[in-house]
Amino acid sequence: MKFRLLSDSDLVAPKKLTRKGLIAGAAPLLVAGPLAKLALADNPAEHDHLQLASHTGNGQAAHGHAAMIGEQAPAVGGPRDLDALLYPPKPLPYRRGRVREYTLTAVDTEIEVAPGVIFPAWTYNGTVPGPVIRATEGDLLRVHFFNGGSHPHTIHFHGIHPANMDGVFEIVPSGGHFTYEFEARPAGLQLYHCHSTPLKKHIHKGLYGAFIIDPKDARPPAQELVMVMNGYDTDGDGSNNFYTVNGRSFYYAKYPITVRRSQLVRVYLANLTEFDLINSLHLHGGFFRHQATGTGDHWEYTDTVMQCQGQRGVIEIEFANTGHFMFHAHQSEFAELGWMGFFNVVD
Ligand code: CU
Ligand code: CU
Repeated sequence: MKFRLLSDSDLVAPKKLTRKGLIAGAAPLLVAGPLAKLALADNPAEHDHLQLASHTGNGQAAHGHAAMIGEQAPAVGGPRDLDALLYPPKPLPYRRGRVREYTLTAVDTEIEVAPGVIFPAWTYNGTVPGPVIRATEGDLLRVHFFNGGSHPHTIHFHGIHPANMDGVFEIVPSGGHFTYEFEARPAGLQLYHCHSTPLKKHIHKGLYGAFIIDPKDARPPAQELVMVMNGYDTDGDGSNNFYTVNGRSFYYAKYPITVRRSQLVRVYLANLTEFDLINSLHLHGGFFRHQATGTGDHWEYTDTVMQCQGQRGVIEIEFANTGHFMFHAHQSEFAELGWMGFFNVVD
């Protein structure tokens, strides 16, 4: 069952709804879904009984409580749907004079961010976040941008580049195109996003993605993952109703990310959440090293990292134990509204 919460044109006169109000309002339509149960479990007695459904295997989930892991978790889609966003393109060793080319096309697309919840997004290449762009420091990056959307857009890249490649002055009208070309530097986890105004709207609608610049001295081999934190304001009141990594609420709760014990896992983590000042990632059962912006000599050793909008970093971890380990925003509200998932650590 799908329903459409609000379209763009509906947002002209936003109703005053709180986040909880929105969820509660959506509940009659979502009532069969665990998301509604999660969201509506507002009295303390309910909270006491929230269970790690299939994880604990003790049958408590059968009493109508939310499944927090596995098939019953309230996420949209199949197990491989977000692979292209989670697993970045392979790094290439530094080679003088190489050109890396990408094509990004802005398209207006309706996306289902939680079961039955449709968001009228503006996207690069049809997904929110957009595709992962990757280059090695020193590569010439050439990005062909076509604006197939209904509004003027650009691509603004973080990094060091000429003023006329900044995506601020050359606004690309609907139907237009522009080619960005600059040397990829400095190494780190950068970002790209639209810089048309109103900026808040163009970013929140979904025009952003991760941009990895590998150092000339390659990082050690690892299982690499990309996590872009975001949110969706589905009722137009200027605050988010759903939170995700890589675009869909509870997706990695439904489909835990399999990693290997004692092997290096590297997560490229970025925050593109609009409206809220910060977002965060907290990991259960392990500590990781975190390098802000994916550059420099400083690594923090922690189990929680917070990022303002536009901040990003590189996380490295070797899991010590097998099993399921939760990761989520440590803002509990964000976690309950979709920003929660699991690693499945195996031998
Ligand atoms: Cu835009
Ligand atoms: Cu930015």
